[in-house]
Amino acid sequence: MTVVNAKHALKAEQSGADALLVTGHEAAAHGGAVTSLVLVPAIRQVTKLPIIAAGGFGTGGGVVAALALGADGVAMGTRWAASKESPVHANTKELIVEKEVEDTIYSKNFDSIPCRVMTTPNSKKIMSKPFNPVRAMWRAYLAAREMNKPLLGILKDVFKMGLEQTLTVTFYGAAVLQIKKATIEGNHSQGVQLIGQVQGLVQDVPTVHELTQRVMQEVHEALASINQLSDHGAGQGAIAPEKISRIA
Ligand SMILES: Cc1cc2nc3c(=O)[nH]c(=O)nc-3n(C[C@H](O)[C@H](O)[C@H](O)COP(=O)(O)O)c2cc1C
Repeated sequence: MTVVNAKHALKAEQSGADALLVTGHEAAAHGGAVTSLVLVPAIRQVTKLPIIAAGGFGTGGGVVAALALGADGVAMGTRWAASKESPVHANTKELIVEKEVEDTIYSKNFDSIPCRVMTTPNSKKIMSKPFNPVRAMWRAYLAAREMNKPLLGILKDVFKMGLEQTLTVTFYGAAVLQIKKATIEGNHSQGVQLIGQVQGLVQDVPTVHELTQRVMQEVHEALASINQLSDHGAGQGAIAPEKISRIA
């Protein structure tokens, strides 16, 4: 279950979650208000459930950092979006390589929940004003029509969910076409791209195999340099060796 604060983590645990995807502020789309550096240990303090840290992880050094903070693994979104096999459009992958860590906007104005998107002239315009509920409903309807969702089915769902949830879903539905335009069609003059700050660390578009090998190499290098700093020598550093063998 995805959580962005300790209260959600406890609720998820009570409702029987097997693990938590703890999503920090740096993340693409709906990361929390707090950065992964603080959020992961904060949630580690309140639960023993396995934690998968997300938001801001794009290198082997990031994996080691997440484990040191108390996570059991990481989820990388932005980094893997810029891999050869990723279905993200080639124009978008090119933009990810060009953009810097600062080139994102985090605001509620896109789909009513705080959301991180790539900075482009179009996203700046869209994120500069609060989303209008009437326009959101119209855009959600257009998105549903494009996806062949029958209007009657949508209305039934609306009655089941109640107003507050309906509005949230409507806002998200309204954003769908813009996400699709940018991510799938590579059209950034009309679309909006969900992306994390990690985009600034991405300098190429390797294959998944190359990227996996690279990340694992970086994990070993990061561990070696930590172990060099440790008074106790190799293997006795900040990260338990058995944790690393689990991800290798
Ligand atoms: C191209 C792309 C599309 C995404 N689409 C969604 C989405 O539709 N809904 C959502 O909640 N998160 C979405 N995410 C966020 C990821 O699920 C994940 O939480 C995030 O990428 C982790 O942070 P990172 O990008 O710093 O690795 C998307 C991420 C990327 C890179």
